[in-house]
Amino acid sequence: MTSTLVTGIGELVTNDATAGDGSALGIVRDAAFAVEGGRVAWVGPASDAPACDQVLDVEGRAVVPGFVDSHTHLVFAGERSAEFVARMAGEPYTGGGIATTVAATRAASDDELRLQASRRLAEMRASGTTTIEAKSGYGLSVADETRILRISREFTDETTFLGAHVVPAEYAHDRAAYVDLVCGPMLAECAPLARWVDVFCDRGAFDEEESRRVLQAGMDAGLMTRVHGNQLEPGPGVRIAVERGAASVDHCNHLSDADVDALAEGSTVATLLPGADFSTRAPYPDARRLIDAGVTVALATDCNPGSSYVTSMPLCLALAVREMHMTPAEALLAATLGGAQALRRDDIGTLQVGASADFAVLDAPSYVHLAYRPGAPIVATTWRAGARIAP
Ligand code: NIG
Ligand code: FE
Repeated sequence: MTSTLVTGIGELVTNDATAGDGSALGIVRDAAFAVEGGRVAWVGPASDAPACDQVLDVEGRAVVPGFVDSHTHLVFAGERSAEFVARMAGEPYTGGGIATTVAATRAASDDELRLQASRRLAEMRASGTTTIEAKSGYGLSVADETRILRISREFTDETTFLGAHVVPAEYAHDRAAYVDLVCGPMLAECAPLARWVDVFCDRGAFDEEESRRVLQAGMDAGLMTRVHGNQLEPGPGVRIAVERGAASVDHCNHLSDADVDALAEGSTVATLLPGADFSTRAPYPDARRLIDAGVTVALATDCNPGSSYVTSMPLCLALAVREMHMTPAEALLAATLGGAQALRRDDIGTLQVGASADFAVLDAPSYVHLAYRPGAPIVATTWRAGARIAP
């Protein structure tokens, strides 16, 4: 097996609190790490590095774990820039535009969906992302939800069944029948193609009882749970997610004290989506309150054509720091290890021995530049399991 030494690293973020400077980021300076069989085989000061078959010298640059984007709606067709223009002129975001994307997605060919998804994934990789989750939810029929999941699986193993995104127009007169479809035949076809079930539990989408039914049916079909909750108003999303032991509850803009307490006591990650808040001009979630209460926080893009047509995790980091008062260290941890925890993965999100060698080389001396230089193309190269995936 060929081994590679990545060396000349000015600042290496390992996310191993027992390594390096002893901070949560486990920063090692003048560092190197060895990769064998796609995994990290050794980490430490470059001066102590073992001999390897190949050497990659990054000439003083910073290296961070690859971003784990644990919330995307990767596969869809069309775009909604007119809705964005209207919002910037004062229209509120309601999720009503989801129907526009459902129509465009249903009308698109498999190849068209594939091509558009691969372009978005290329943007994500170029900005340092090495793992993505991808949801269905723009099909809302048995045939289209399965089609979206099948195509999503060409891009990632972390696929999520989101048949309960909204009630489609053809069921507007009979919501119960749509929930029956989602929990019955649609789930039966989609479960083999997904690892997760998700529900949009919010105003204009699904209520508490409907959301509970969807999550229970998904669990009965062997899927693990995640929830879109508390984006548009205070509500039951967080409470249900924690009660069900969901891996993550995403958005979290409107939280009660009881929600924060429940998250702090439970194992559910709070995934914050600052790209959505930016693009819908919504109040940002109170990340400080969550972190100070001991809640595990993740950051993700929520890439979708309505609320957040964002593929860049560095942009999300910058927004989290500037607008949500997270420190640059907290934001980086949330975008890497936090995302891994939101996907219940212990093989990604760190660069400790045994982890997948997923990393981004930055054209900067420190990870802080991710937030300090917003908009700059700061990711030089991205690597997954030791192989270069971008540019
Ligand atoms: O996560 N909130 C629900 N779903 C998506 C947006 C969907 C859309 O507007 O197309 C979200 O923000
Ligand atoms: Fe979403």
